[in-house]
Amino acid sequence: MAHKIAVIGGDGIGPEVVAEALKVVRAAGVDLDTTDFDLGGARYLRDGTVLPDETLDELRAYDAILLGAVGTPEVPPGVIERGLLLKMRFALDQYVNLRPFNLAERNIDFLVVRENTEGTYAGEGGFLRKGTPQEIATQGSVNTRHGVERIIRYAFDLAETRPRKHLTMVHKTNVLTFAGDLWQRTFDEVAAEHPDVETAYNHVDAACIYFVQDPQRYDVIVTDNLFGDILTDLGGAVSGGIGFASSGNMDPTRHAPSMFEPVHGSAPDIAGQAKANPIAAILSAAMMLDLLEEREAADRIRKACFASTDLTASTPEIGDAVAARL
Ligand code: NAI
Ligand code: MG
Repeated sequence: MAHKIAVIGGDGIGPEVVAEALKVVRAAGVDLDTTDFDLGGARYLRDGTVLPDETLDELRAYDAILLGAVGTPEVPPGVIERGLLLKMRFALDQYVNLRPFNLAERNIDFLVVRENTEGTYAGEGGFLRKGTPQEIATQGSVNTRHGVERIIRYAFDLAETRPRKHLTMVHKTNVLTFAGDLWQRTFDEVAAEHPDVETAYNHVDAACIYFVQDPQRYDVIVTDNLFGDILTDLGGAVSGGIGFASSGNMDPTRHAPSMFEPVHGSAPDIAGQAKANPIAAILSAAMMLDLLEEREAADRIRKACFASTDLTASTPEIGDAVAARL
């Protein structure tokens, strides 16, 4: 049966790279029944729509969501990020943000498991005396035992499936002592249930050094929402570039659809010029196929993506080259 996929191409290079991802998935022989949703910065500028609750409810009926990129420089910061991306992640409880990094030439092969519903992104905080010289802005970090435990459990379970079975927690427990304490205690408790997984801990600043100088040390990393956001851009930069960085926003319980998207944004500087690398979007679609239990097709797509590709070719030519290998 065809998988029902909601497609949000979005803005800039988003629709360009998503078209290639769909082309490749179909070339792998997977049957998709897609519906386009016109959402993103362009739609907001046209009629003020971000993500109405009715649209969110419509999305719940799909097996998965494939997103290109949303946001344009003309839209004020936060409107699309909070109103569309975070709203979707939170409402659909996509609590795992999984971001794999692979670069065979440097022997890099690790995954970042980023908590995706809490932390500083939860939206706790506000202004006092806004606009006055005494203005106060606070932005709290929300960490629940439930939220921390479920992401750590996911990371241990994932590490267990990998040959190295190694899991590193990244945080800043020496300064963020309340959140850090909850994370460390939870991590230690879950670790005791997984004696076969070797564990490590890095402060996030040290992790930045290791990402650049010794990324081979990592197998699976688990971290909070903000650290994971920042670290994974660095992860992309050290393992082939942002054009290869894929991600899944997942509800592993499958109560609601998961959403797959490249890590990069809408790249207004190269939009409409067929210069975007579609590999990140194609690899994101492969992650989608993993969740849809089309593992064999997903593995073939990943192999086709990592075969050497002429990245000076146009976006559709790169998509064609990957599709041809299938
Ligand atoms: P960006 O990721 O769009 O671009 C950063 C740089 O990387 C640019 O020089 C761009 O040309 C290049 N780049 C990005 N993707 C590429 C690809 N596939 N192939 C080749 N080069 C690529 O980040 P930026 O410029 O900070 O954001 C642009 C817009 O995208 C903003 O409105 C931002 O809010 C939005 N954005 C959306 C995201 C999402 O939809 N999840 C994530 C990040 C940014
Ligand atoms: Mg980011």
